[in-house]
Amino acid sequence: MTGPTTVFIARRVFGDIVDRLRGHFDVRTHEGESPLAQAELIAALQGCAGVFVTGSEKIDAVLLDACPQLKAVCTLAVGYNNIDVAACTARGVLVTNAPGVLTETTADFGFALMMAAARRISEGERFLREGRWKHWGVDMFAGGDVHGATLGVLGMGRIGQAIAKRGHGGFDMKVAYHNRSHLAPEVEASLGATWMTLPDLLRTVDHLVIVTPYSAETHHLVGAEQLRLMKPTATLTNIARGGVVDDAALAAALSAGTIAAAGLDVFEGEPAVNPALLALRNVVLTPHIASASLPTRRAMANLAVDNLLAAFGVGPDAGRPPTALNPEVLA
Ligand code: GLV
Repeated sequence: MTGPTTVFIARRVFGDIVDRLRGHFDVRTHEGESPLAQAELIAALQGCAGVFVTGSEKIDAVLLDACPQLKAVCTLAVGYNNIDVAACTARGVLVTNAPGVLTETTADFGFALMMAAARRISEGERFLREGRWKHWGVDMFAGGDVHGATLGVLGMGRIGQAIAKRGHGGFDMKVAYHNRSHLAPEVEASLGATWMTLPDLLRTVDHLVIVTPYSAETHHLVGAEQLRLMKPTATLTNIARGGVVDDAALAAALSAGTIAAAGLDVFEGEPAVNPALLALRNVVLTPHIASASLPTRRAMANLAVDNLLAAFGVGPDAGRPPTALNPEVLA
């Protein structure tokens, strides 16, 4: 006789969300705040059919081969560059992610980071906290305008479109974008958005926001050569993934005045941050929190649980995980 299905929750999540799984599965958890090393994760997954992960745990062929009982990998993130989906599919392992529920929250944050960079908010705050504010100055922390400027969106998926909507509808911005595929003409019209080649986008925009998924094709999509095309008054905001931007080249460009400022929520090799970026005044740095409103993080975790339940035939979506990336493995 087989026992109950065992699932592993690879990071601390909200207790009531874990309870949703406890009702149906034998649940094991890793309560730590940092991700398990791969060998620890493999050890913890022995005997587990499902795993709830975040954007940090690496699920690759080595892990899959060492965990032959694994049938479903459900991440609470929308980005899944940490999961080798092809390797999962080849082994009949379902992968699900969590798109949609974080779109507006993440777009809010991208816009905030862009505004903070353009209007030099962190820089001004540091100056004040350091007790250096002695008088008002006519050009003190004078930055660039956001309203009426040209917004560039690199990666025009759900989040890119939500950022474009804010710029077009709320801030009278002209919107330009670069994406592998063009939006439908009616969507372009509703966002006031114009497709451009990447070099044209870089030359044209005042504020570039990067929201493209990370893959071999987007690795260092923006490096020294691309930064050189941008206006010296321009800002760059990255809420996509570390690695889409060459952080060392960006630090050099910010230091040389090739562009004016940057807002970064993601970093190559995070949580380590390139020391050259830490030394600069004209960059706003946040620790990968673009989707971190409490309601949204709960919605992301709940969606991962919906998927995990459905993968094992439980709940209203039984057998039809709502956001499967490789539903063909279920056929
Ligand atoms: C966060 O970075 C996500 O991919 O959800």
